[in-house]
Amino acid sequence: MKRDTQHLTDPCVMVIFGASGDLTSRKLIPALYNLVCNGFLPQAFAVVGFARTSKTDEVFRQEMHDAVQEFSHATPINDQAWGEFAQCLHYCVGDYGKEEDYEALHRTLLQIDEQHGTHGNRLYYLATPPDIYPIIVEQIGHSLLCKECPGQWSRIIVEKPFGHDLDSARELNAHMHQYFQEDQIYRIDHYLGKETVQNILVFRFSNGIFEPIWNRRYVDSVQVTVAESIGVENRGSYYDHAGVIRDMIQNHVLQLVALTGMEPPVEFTADAVRNEKVKVLKALHVDHAHGDGTVRGQYGPGKMGQQLAPGYTQEQGVPADSQTETYLAMKLFIDNWRWAGVPFYVRSGKRMPKRVSEIAIQFKMPPLLLFSDVAAQHIEPNTLALNIQPDEGISLKFGSKVPGSGEKIRPVIMDFKYGEAFNSPAPDAYERLLLDCLLGDSTLFTRSDEVETAWSLITPVLQAWEGGSGSFIELYRAGTWGPKQADDFIQQDGRRWRIF
Ligand code: BG6
Repeated sequence: MKRDTQHLTDPCVMVIFGASGDLTSRKLIPALYNLVCNGFLPQAFAVVGFARTSKTDEVFRQEMHDAVQEFSHATPINDQAWGEFAQCLHYCVGDYGKEEDYEALHRTLLQIDEQHGTHGNRLYYLATPPDIYPIIVEQIGHSLLCKECPGQWSRIIVEKPFGHDLDSARELNAHMHQYFQEDQIYRIDHYLGKETVQNILVFRFSNGIFEPIWNRRYVDSVQVTVAESIGVENRGSYYDHAGVIRDMIQNHVLQLVALTGMEPPVEFTADAVRNEKVKVLKALHVDHAHGDGTVRGQYGPGKMGQQLAPGYTQEQGVPADSQTETYLAMKLFIDNWRWAGVPFYVRSGKRMPKRVSEIAIQFKMPPLLLFSDVAAQHIEPNTLALNIQPDEGISLKFGSKVPGSGEKIRPVIMDFKYGEAFNSPAPDAYERLLLDCLLGDSTLFTRSDEVETAWSLITPVLQAWEGGSGSFIELYRAGTWGPKQADDFIQQDGRRWRIF
């Protein structure tokens, strides 16, 4: 992964398909604006928003100004920086399936090349609903917008969800490969753009003391929690077709498992890192010792703090009889030399009491308990917690003698907090990922085989649920940590979920 990259970013036009949607205003434009303010984008850079809603460049610019004001962490807006950035924003109205609209787009891009000196380099961003991806890809292909003339490049970023099961992911990969080479395709998983997620590899592979104990000989179990306090907000109709398994587990959670479980790559290049992630994903299996190895839940009405919260089926866009899961716990094993027999418990849910994402490595108890029986009861296993968000940091729990004449032992925590150790705020995940794509660095993007391997694990679970042989949907109250069955699930192994 390259850094310190100001001088390496090529001139380019970024075309955002779906420019009137939420992602553009909440994430993409604020990220680009922040990159501009930090001097990461070249002078010769422009954005073309492409969508069905008709509007002028001026209206688009004003809307994006308001979006940056609301969603960028670099506010208040710097008028001069905004003024220059706004001049780079253009808008093109078009129908995603109409050839002539892509011809018009092509003409606009050529004009922009003249006006901004963008040299014919193109970055396409698919920010539309996923069912439109194949149409756009085909149109880009037919109008030769993806063609790379000598000295020019053309790349495409695809938002998740990438397919809804193994077959559809394969189909989409095959479709895209008709027009784009794999190294032109950047499948985004925004968790990989988070500083704390990238730090998993730095922590593991730039320190000498953790790797020797990072295996089945010393590790008892691993827990990955990605809990959200929000509900489905205004995305009910999308979410009802996805559920937490497609929305969070297949991508973000499995990526965290892969980074935690992978072997050291031979070098820090996109392919070397992704090769190791694929190996772990291939070695993963869902434990079937008890049922289908999953607990599914759906939030019912409850309370978030003092506020009443509606149940999932009362949310806008969700059918009253929906059987979609908003919570999932799974037990996974990695069948390889390093991890055989070590359970990876993963869980993710909406309307949990707190927003928290964490990877916790629980180590085995010491081989011999030397202290008195009373004290031994208070010895807890060492746990190393990688806190992804919101309290970014790393903590290690170990037993310590309570001062005094007795032999009392109490767990204490050694705590590293990003906020205290480093002064500068972490960039948003989209800033990092957009910059990497502009640099042609795909390390933090998922490769076609990686996405398909993740779907190979998830698809049989989906099929079991659909065929009626999987776990049932259990209700949990909004504002709680999921259904009671999830506690039983881990307790039957003599373990319990981490408490936050
Ligand atoms: C998205 C999911 O990928 O990730 C959302 O579609 C979820 O449902 C979001 O809320 C969580 O991202 P973060 O960065 O807030 O943890």
